[in-house]
Amino acid sequence: MLAEAIKTYQKRVDAILEQHLNQLDDAAPNLKAAMLHGALLGGKRIRPFLVYAVGNMFSVNINALDKAAAAIECIHAYSLIHDDLPAMDNDALRRGQPTVHVAFDEATAILAGDALQTLAFEIMTSISDDLSPTQQLAMVRVLAKAAGYQGMCGGQAIDLSATNHSIELQRLTELHNKKTGALISCAVEMALIAANAPAEQYQLMMQYAQALGLAFQVQDDILDITASTEELGKPQGSDEQSNKSTFPKLLGLDGAKACAEQLIQDALSALTKLPYNSQLIADFARYIIERRL
Ligand code: IPE
Ligand code: IPE
Ligand code: MG
Ligand code: MG
Ligand code: MG
Repeated sequence: MLAEAIKTYQKRVDAILEQHLNQLDDAAPNLKAAMLHGALLGGKRIRPFLVYAVGNMFSVNINALDKAAAAIECIHAYSLIHDDLPAMDNDALRRGQPTVHVAFDEATAILAGDALQTLAFEIMTSISDDLSPTQQLAMVRVLAKAAGYQGMCGGQAIDLSATNHSIELQRLTELHNKKTGALISCAVEMALIAANAPAEQYQLMMQYAQALGLAFQVQDDILDITASTEELGKPQGSDEQSNKSTFPKLLGLDGAKACAEQLIQDALSALTKLPYNSQLIADFARYIIERRL
């Protein structure tokens, strides 16, 4: 059921992304190829999954979710391209492929990230038959906020400042909430906006999203140690090698696992208070900390 839903939504968002990218003209073919490389070669599509699965739970027409699903994946793809750059994590492998700056060059990778970021907002603001302009505006706002200083970019900056330095758990939690949790929460929030979800349900779903988002990055840190390069499609031990601040480093491997488990319990307990069938996103929460990729 979960695996099937993940695959279905993956295919759907891939088709939309492909369409948007392929329809770009060929004025800058190298840049276009780098964008295709960074956005379309692999990826679990977990943020689009959340947009669709949460929207579906609230009975939103799937067409009303397509822009958010595609836009958030463009932001995510951009964040990975830049995350891998020599100035940041300096990684050469992503999704089992050479990273964009390796396959192309650094300048092209920077531009591919930039252009994917702006494509997200172009998609999000194009005329919609399925969303009101007010809903679109609200979605753009949460997406911009989650991607920028208050979210992913801010988190990445804290990540850099916490490299070769030890930080306290509270600061590491802030780092992870921002660099990864913000975009994951945003996926849920865009679906809630499409659903015009009532305040109380909105709040419960955001509790789910925030716990899930943090758990996702804790598990990413765990996998950096426990999974192989082949399983991950990215270099095992990258955090260790760069002397990053991570949950396993601070809490030990078992401590980090216990923390991820507790976060998933928190996420699930928020769901039980909702008057909906939340089985799919409950299963998804469990998958987040059991995944090997
Ligand atoms: C990896 O994200 C980067 C983090 C924010 C931890 P994903 O694990 O979602 O990467 P893909 O999209 O599946 O490759
Ligand atoms: C990345 O965190 C978070 C982003 C904003 C892209 P990591 O640096 O741990 O992600 P991976 O492990 O390279 O995918
Ligand atoms: Mg990083
Ligand atoms: Mg990285
Ligand atoms: Mg990582």
